[in-house]
Amino acid sequence: MDKHVRSTSVTGLGAALAFALVLVTAGPAAAAKHEFDMTIEDVKVQVADGLKYHVFAFNGQVPGPLIHVAEGDDVTVHVTNLTSLPHTVHWHGLFQKDNWRMDGVPSITQKAIEPGDTFTYTFKAEPSGTMWYHCHVNVNEHVALRGMWGPLIIDPKKPTDLEKRVTRNFVLMLSGWDSKYADKPGFGGLPTEAGQMDYFGLNGRAFPGTQPMRVKKGDVVRVRLIGAGGELHEMHTHGHTFWVTHKDGHPLPQPYKADTILLGPGERYDLIFEADNAGRFIFHDHMDTHVTNAGKYPGGIVTIVEYEGVPTDDDWYVWKDKVYDPDFFYTESLEKPYGMYDHAEFKGEPVDKGRRGRK
Ligand code: CU
Ligand code: CU
Ligand code: CU
Repeated sequence: MDKHVRSTSVTGLGAALAFALVLVTAGPAAAAKHEFDMTIEDVKVQVADGLKYHVFAFNGQVPGPLIHVAEGDDVTVHVTNLTSLPHTVHWHGLFQKDNWRMDGVPSITQKAIEPGDTFTYTFKAEPSGTMWYHCHVNVNEHVALRGMWGPLIIDPKKPTDLEKRVTRNFVLMLSGWDSKYADKPGFGGLPTEAGQMDYFGLNGRAFPGTQPMRVKKGDVVRVRLIGAGGELHEMHTHGHTFWVTHKDGHPLPQPYKADTILLGPGERYDLIFEADNAGRFIFHDHMDTHVTNAGKYPGGIVTIVEYEGVPTDDDWYVWKDKVYDPDFFYTESLEKPYGMYDHAEFKGEPVDKGRRGRK
């Protein structure tokens, strides 16, 4: 069981009450309860060769930990700010019905969480779908540049026929990085500061530091795209067309077929495709500048759909020696019981606070 999961079931008096409630109403089982601890930490993550970036990282990692629950569940998250700047957590896409103080917007729904303080968020996981969470303080810097985002996946009570067929899930969070501000926490992300993104990342990493999407023939693959950065992305599959099935977590009344999809800041699209064409196919951002690192092609937002059983040993294959990380897209974590999941490969290295702010 994940160390952050304090309890996933009601206890003591709560259990007795829930049991009584079920007896009285004879309705569906009471909502599960989840309680998690989350930190915000100053760390440096390796975005690309030659680019370490100072981030304010949920649980010390970018992306933040996966939170995976079911529609209607009750979620409690204790957020402790270990950095030296204020932050909040906004749960993007959630209704927060009669619960607006949990919306995570500083000066509107709460006072920002000061350094050293803990704030507890409690909310119902609704609606279902591909949601996400992010800081809502100085979003131009904290979200666009400092990696303050993570996935929140809420499984629906009534999945669509198409999503019931899914055998493998991949979470792809897309963002940009401005290398000029890598070591200037508290600054950057403003047009007046002439910043310009020169690196682009898939789950915080630029190609070739990204990872393959491993599938096997016959899989029904669900890609959950999340626009975590401040720029547009245009994701394109080779060798496959996909159904666009969900927009911002909501099932489309009429899924449609495409091979390229435009994704703006904050948006989510779920794509489902059949793995019916064994081989190695690139899956990339078609914004041509987004497949470069500091002006050099190839880089940025690129992954490769690798079919199991297709050899990867061509001596010219860019990933022939790739060390495979099966949870880079939270594929493995999404198959585990509901909970919050860190991923060790996403962790940064601690920042020497005595040296902060120096050039
Ligand atoms: Cu923040
Ligand atoms: Cu948002
Ligand atoms: Cu292409």
